[in-house]
Amino acid sequence: MKTVFSGIQPSGTLTLGNYLGAMQHFVNLQHDHNCYFCIVDQHAITVPQDRLKLRENIRSLAALYIAAGIDPSKSTLFIQSEVPAHAQLAWIMQCISYIGELERMTQFKDKSDGKEAVSASLLTYPPLMAADILLYKTDIVPVGEDQKQHLELTRNLAERFNKKYNDIFTIPEVKIPKVGARIMSLNDPSKKMSKSNPNEKSYISMLDDEKTIIKKIKSAVTDSDGSVHYDKEAKPAIANLLSIYSLCSGKSIDDIVEEYKDKGYGDFKNDLAHVVVDTLKPIQEKYYQLIHSEELDSILDQGRDKANQVASKMVEKAERAMGLGRKRR
Ligand code: TYM
Repeated sequence: MKTVFSGIQPSGTLTLGNYLGAMQHFVNLQHDHNCYFCIVDQHAITVPQDRLKLRENIRSLAALYIAAGIDPSKSTLFIQSEVPAHAQLAWIMQCISYIGELERMTQFKDKSDGKEAVSASLLTYPPLMAADILLYKTDIVPVGEDQKQHLELTRNLAERFNKKYNDIFTIPEVKIPKVGARIMSLNDPSKKMSKSNPNEKSYISMLDDEKTIIKKIKSAVTDSDGSVHYDKEAKPAIANLLSIYSLCSGKSIDDIVEEYKDKGYGDFKNDLAHVVVDTLKPIQEKYYQLIHSEELDSILDQGRDKANQVASKMVEKAERAMGLGRKRR
């Protein structure tokens, strides 16, 4: 059975983009893969976080994973900072990374652009991500489009280490969905939907209530031509809404276009809002049952123990390969 690893940052309530681009696929993969899903809190602190808010976001993300369908009897769900091997291997990954290749990461360029004080960790974020993945002999990493470059770097670092020290790391493959790999902002289809966007109307949060979802979708930008058809270049806003509709309803984009060929944006948006509400409602109900439960803690305890067992062995192998510490008897 192949191994899958992926992570999500607890840096605010997840958006519909995170769900459709990543989490939804995690749920499907767990039936026939050995899956690890991580709450990457050490990644979140590469930018300043409020201590109490971060705690809340970590728990909230754990509950969302389960509520969205991650089954703890099939998948290992855990918090990154509870498994020390991540930070340990990240150091090793930093030692074999070049500053030049880290500076070329578009996410680093975007996040540091125009800022005076840029943390060193913003630059060394991708080696930590490589460590996350390589600790578990991961074959497949399901992510949205924006993580592609980090995955390429992970593969390069693994190959570099294997060649230079010892052939211990599995070279992971990236898995990016055909539809929904980059869900765009509702008020600007040239930007990706993001939980860090200060304009709340730009995204749908997985915990938005029905009224809010309807309001946000009704106010999403469209264009002046008035017909519902898929054209990513000429009609990026409608193409984005069609992708969301298709992923939430399970209908193909062609079928949806056919359904609305004699209708306007009003009907389309109204139905889309209800399709999104119907997708998120069962997840939200489960979320509110779980969020304060002891069950959630016991799932995370078990996940931590399982992840620790696997990851500590791999970090030891990497340290041995590099000659760290004393010779083991
Ligand atoms: P993060 O927390 O920003 O996003 C989590 C996942 O959601 C996907 N995603 C999207 N997909 C489609 N449309 C969007 N608008 C959208 N926004 C986000 C992301 O591609 C991602 O798959 N660095 C990672 C977390 C990470 C990780 C890892 C991932 C840390 N270690 C190891 C995989 C493997 C991040 O910041 O994702």
